[in-house]
Amino acid sequence: KWVASVRDKLLAWYDENRRDLPWRKNKDPYRIWVSEIMLQQTRVDTVIPYYERFMDAFPTLKALAEAEEEQVIKAWEGLGYYSRARNLHTAVKEVAASYGGKVPSDPEAVSQLKGVGAYTAGAILSIAFDRRVPAVDGNVMRVFSRWFAMQDDVAKLSTRKKFEELALHVIPEGRAGDFNQALMELGALICTPTSPSCDTCPVREECRAREWGVQAELPVKKKA
Ligand code: ADE
Repeated sequence: KWVASVRDKLLAWYDENRRDLPWRKNKDPYRIWVSEIMLQQTRVDTVIPYYERFMDAFPTLKALAEAEEEQVIKAWEGLGYYSRARNLHTAVKEVAASYGGKVPSDPEAVSQLKGVGAYTAGAILSIAFDRRVPAVDGNVMRVFSRWFAMQDDVAKLSTRKKFEELALHVIPEGRAGDFNQALMELGALICTPTSPSCDTCPVREECRAREWGVQAELPVKKKA
């Protein structure tokens, strides 16, 4: 059926086109967590060298948990938004103290960690643990808006909830992490904010915005 076909096309495209990013080397939840925090406000290309440097300094969750805050801030230098680093450090110490140093795979527990919102929790749970949890960020909202030609204002929390609900129905069993990353990848490489590359999009035949020629007008984002 339709959902299965779209999902298979997207995953097949991802298998062919996924970038070899440093946080995709394995499924260590700690490595994925750090990457997602860095990627919250910073672009992939910019993050890569900082990520490598940070991982050299703190290769394991334990290493980061045992570090002094000053060292952590030092290793984060250049990335900005230092509260991200402080929150990450606090949360990692919490995991070391309360969960024996293992990132919990339970959505309740993960979401309560400092600095981990719905998106980051979904990314960690799906990518590291292959749990069927949505990871809806701005990229994914743009892709969904176009796919279904939805006029909902993506600045609204209720819109994100709606998209999370939608994602939940589409995320496949067994490849949740790949599916979420395929959506992010499509948003980054094809379904870009301005002049999306519809001609090379793996799901062009299933895209309502393209069918109606309204891809440039979506997503709808009203000023807050
Ligand atoms: N942006 C946020 N998370 C990402 C990921 N895991 N891969 C690529 N881009 C991302």
